[in-house]
Amino acid sequence: MSSNDHPNTHGAADEPDASHSTTAGVPHILLFFIVGLALSLIVGWGVFPKLLYSQKSQPFDFSHKVHLEQVDQGCQSCHFFREDGTFSGSPRLAQCLGCHEELQGQSEDEAIFVEQYVAKGREVPWRVYARQPDCVFFSHAAHVLGAKMDCVACHGPIGTSDSLKPYEENRITGYSRDIWGPSIAGFKHNSWDRMKMDDCAECHARFDVIHDSSVQTKRDACFVCHK
Ligand code: HEC
Ligand code: HEC
Ligand code: HEC
Ligand code: HEC
Ligand code: HEC
Repeated sequence: MSSNDHPNTHGAADEPDASHSTTAGVPHILLFFIVGLALSLIVGWGVFPKLLYSQKSQPFDFSHKVHLEQVDQGCQSCHFFREDGTFSGSPRLAQCLGCHEELQGQSEDEAIFVEQYVAKGREVPWRVYARQPDCVFFSHAAHVLGAKMDCVACHGPIGTSDSLKPYEENRITGYSRDIWGPSIAGFKHNSWDRMKMDDCAECHARFDVIHDSSVQTKRDACFVCHK
C-alpha cells in the first residue's frame, strides 16, 4: 500500500505544478509560433532578397529630367526606331557627344562620364533593368508602333526620373530583378513591376497577337517569344 501511496501523494503534490505548466505552456507555444513566424518573415522578406540580389550601380548617374529639358524630340532624341524597324535601345556614346564634348556643368557624374568615356571614346556599359534572358525574343516595334503602348506600361517612370536606380542582379540566375519583380511574395501593384513569362503571356492572351491567319498557331506558342 505504501508503495501505492507514494506515487499518489507524489502525483497529488505534483498536480498544481502540472496544471501550472500547462497554462503557461500554451502561451509558450504561441510565443514560439509568433517568434518563428516573425523570424521567417524577416528572413523571407528582409534577408532573403538581400542575399538573393546583389546591388550594382550604373557607371554614373544620369538624370532623365535634366535631359528632357535639353533635347527637342523627347524620348526619341535618345531612344528611337531605325529605318528597318529595330529599336535603338540604350543610347550610344555618339548621341551624347554633340553636347558633352564640351563640359555642360560641374557635376561629378558628368566628370566621370567625360573622363572615363567621352575622352577615351569608350561606350558606356549601361546595365539594362529590363534585360531578358538570351532565349527571349522581344520587339519594341510590335508593342510601341504596333500596339501603341506607352513606355511607362512596361518600364514605369524611369523616363522622367531624376536618377538611375541601382541595378539588382539575381545571384542565382544572373537576371535583373525587374523580371521577377520587387516582391518576393509575387505581389504586383503596377503593370511594370514584373516582366516574367506569365506577365507577357497574360497580356498577350488579352490581345490577338498573331494576325497572320495562315499560320495556325495559338498566340501562346513558344516561338512567339522564344528564339
Ligand atoms: C538625352 C538622352 C535620353 C533621353 C532624351 C531619354 N533617355 Fe531614357 N535613357 C538614357 C540613358 C543614357 C539611359 C541609361 C541606359 C540604360 O539603362 O539603358 C536611359 C535609360 C532608359 C530606360 C531604362 C531601360 C532599362 O531597362 O535599362 C528607360 C525605360 C528609358 N530610358 C525611357 C525613356 C523615356 C520614356 C524617355 C522620354 C520620356 C527617355 N528615356 C528619354 C538616355 C535618354
Ligand atoms: C542636348 C544636349 C545634351 C545631350 C544630347 C546630352 N546631354 Fe548630358 N547634360 C546636358 C546638360 C545641359 C547637363 C546639365 C549640366 C549641369 O547643369 O550640371 C547634362 C548633364 C549630364 C550628366 C550629369 C548628371 C545629370 O544627368 O544631370 C551626365 C552624366 C550626362 N549629362 C550624360 C549624358 C549622356 C550619357 C548623354 C547621351 C546619352 C547625354 N548626357 C546627352 C546636355 C546634354
Ligand atoms: C511591352 C513592354 C514594353 C514597352 C511598351 C516598352 N518596352 Fe522597352 N523594353 C521592354 C523589354 C522586355 C526590354 C528588354 C528587351 C530585351 O532584353 O531583349 C526593354 C528594353 C528597353 C531598353 C534597353 C534596350 C537595350 O537593349 O539597350 C530601353 C532603353 C527601352 N526599353 C526603352 C523603352 C522606351 C523609350 C519605350 C517607349 C517608347 C519602351 N521601352 C517601351 C519592354 C517594353
Ligand atoms: C501590356 C501588354 C503586353 C505585354 C506586357 C507584352 N506584350 Fe508582347 N505584344 C502585345 C501586343 C498587343 C502585341 C501585338 C502587336 C501587333 O502585332 O500589333 C504583342 C506582340 C508581341 C510580339 C510579336 C508577335 C508577332 O508575331 O507579331 C512578341 C515577340 C512579343 N509581343 C513578345 C513579348 C514579350 C517577350 C513580352 C514580355 C517581356 C511581352 N511581349 C509583353 C502586348 C503585350
Ligand atoms: C508571351 C511570351 C512567352 C511565351 C509565349 C513563352 N515564353 Fe517562355 N519565357 C518568356 C520570358 C519573358 C521568359 C524570361 C522570364 C522568366 O523566366 O519568366 C521566359 C522564360 C522561359 C524559360 C526559362 C529560361 C531561362 O533561361 O530561365 C523556359 C524554359 C521557357 N520560357 C519555356 C517556354 C515554353 C516551353 C513555351 C511554350 C509552351 C514558352 N516558354 C512560351 C516569354 C514567353
